[in-house]
Amino acid sequence: MLLRRLVLDGHRVIALTLDLGESDAVSGPGSAEQLDGARRKALALGASDALVLDVRARFVKELVLPALRANVMYQGVYPLSAALSRPLIGATLVDVAHRFGADAVAHGCTGKGNDQVRIELAVRALDPTLTVLAPLRDAPLSRPDAIAFAREHGIPVSSTLERPYSIDANLWGRSIEAGVLEDPWTAPPEDAFAWTAAPNARPAGGEDVVIDFERGEPAGAGLDGVDLIAQLNQQAGGHGIGRIDLIEDRVVGLKSREVYEAPAALVLIAAHKALERLVLTRDELRLKSPLDQRYAELVYDGLWPAPLRKALDAFNDALAERMTGRVRLHLAHGNATVTGTASPHALYSEALATYGSGDRFRHDAAAGFTALWGLPLEIAARSERDVAVAG
Ligand code: ARG
Repeated sequence: MLLRRLVLDGHRVIALTLDLGESDAVSGPGSAEQLDGARRKALALGASDALVLDVRARFVKELVLPALRANVMYQGVYPLSAALSRPLIGATLVDVAHRFGADAVAHGCTGKGNDQVRIELAVRALDPTLTVLAPLRDAPLSRPDAIAFAREHGIPVSSTLERPYSIDANLWGRSIEAGVLEDPWTAPPEDAFAWTAAPNARPAGGEDVVIDFERGEPAGAGLDGVDLIAQLNQQAGGHGIGRIDLIEDRVVGLKSREVYEAPAALVLIAAHKALERLVLTRDELRLKSPLDQRYAELVYDGLWPAPLRKALDAFNDALAERMTGRVRLHLAHGNATVTGTASPHALYSEALATYGSGDRFRHDAAAGFTALWGLPLEIAARSERDVAVAG
């Protein structure tokens, strides 16, 4: 649609399709076939060149793994799958524009969404001299009109009037919005989901999965990066894990309803947090939690290129030096539950924590510690009483 509008406006267009792993995450048409389809579709619609770039490994290394170290969860529940892809899309647009000597880049975002902000900020941070074209923002079409435009111009679209969802997906998750979901009282229908098994299609029994971390980077079953995430999407998705339904606060100030499926993201973030609790100090954990929240807000708000995000990465990287170990989770009935953690850097000491024999905790020191720890409370309470009596 974007492409057709640009061509109709008289631009010479180089179409760019990025493989962000969307089709690795589900069974179905093979990725190569789908991507080649996108290339041929672009040329048929009038693009002068059409590039398909596999950016999956870069997406995982440069965006997903730093975000995992920050346990990213916007508004506590959304692991930022769509948001994390946008800085990479912006950066790749700039690379390709430079390679072809283009003076503008274009995106198909509307003016209501977050993605225009994220992509444009990423482009501007790298090359503020490039013009950004957004024809679907300048002359917006309703979804039914957009579907009609697509039919008229022979543009194949997956969205139909009966199922008019707007869908965005990559390795880290799938987002579904619009259609019947616009009524926040309407429960998400099963046809909105593609990666997670419906309640009546989940296996009766659960299964365990073990995630190994090496300096904060996950691996498991001999897999890492792209393959691990793709495999976990299938495995955890099969148990119905990863469904999220959020009334979220958009950057542009409005609330919207978005449904997500992010099986691997939820499993990996749960595992990563569990390992952090085992190896990081109490003070590190207390400081990291609000910083993680801030990190998620920066990513959501399109501020990935900000110096603050880079500084937070440096903090997380320093802690990740000790983030080596393993976490076991039980996958069953829509839930991933951590059932065990182990690490050579564990700060947990069974000899100190045990209520059994072999206890090495200094019980004799506890009474004195408690008296001094409570001293400020005693002093404050006495002062309150004195003031009350005097008044
Ligand atoms: N609301 C999500 C975000 O801002 C997803 C945006 C794209 N989703 C979509 N269904 N088109 O990150």
